[in-house]
Amino acid sequence: MKAGDEIVIGAMEHHSNIVPWQLLCEEKGARLRVIPINDRGELLLEEYRKLLDRARAWWRWARFQTPWGASARVREIIEMAHEAGALTLIDGAQAVPHMKVDVQALDADFYAFSGHKLYGPTGIGMLYGKKKLLDAMPPYQGGGDMIRTVHVREDHL
Ligand SMILES: Cc1ncc(COP(=O)(O)O)c(C=O)c1O
Repeated sequence: MKAGDEIVIGAMEHHSNIVPWQLLCEEKGARLRVIPINDRGELLLEEYRKLLDRARAWWRWARFQTPWGASARVREIIEMAHEAGALTLIDGAQAVPHMKVDVQALDADFYAFSGHKLYGPTGIGMLYGKKKLLDAMPPYQGGGDMIRTVHVREDHL
């Protein structure tokens, strides 16, 4: 992320899928955009298209939210993001306990969910990412058990 980038989320997100993006925007000088919903709680895809048309965007949205019933459109929404050159990160916290999820069929760039929603322990979760994207990213932590070999560069000596 860099200054001027945009992050697009749905208006009905869980706050845990809003606040981290607000913090990231603050840190990077990026902008958060919200896709509005109609009275039935459905995302207004024409508004989403406008946001995508205007900017390369990161988009994140809860994949399966029973009251809103918009889950069938996830594949379409991801496709629209990709057509606009945007990456997608799906919040699957409510999807994984209820249905089989195929991240490759969805073509999600990233997919996240938490353990306790699957009756697992609290404090654990899963983040899936396409290999080419993960390879291009810096490690989020350093330390033991994350490397095969370590080298000290000459200019460090
Ligand atoms: C759609 C969705 N995303 C995220 C979360 C938050 O997950 P966690 O409790 O692991 O932060 C929840 C929890 O209710 C959720 O329903």
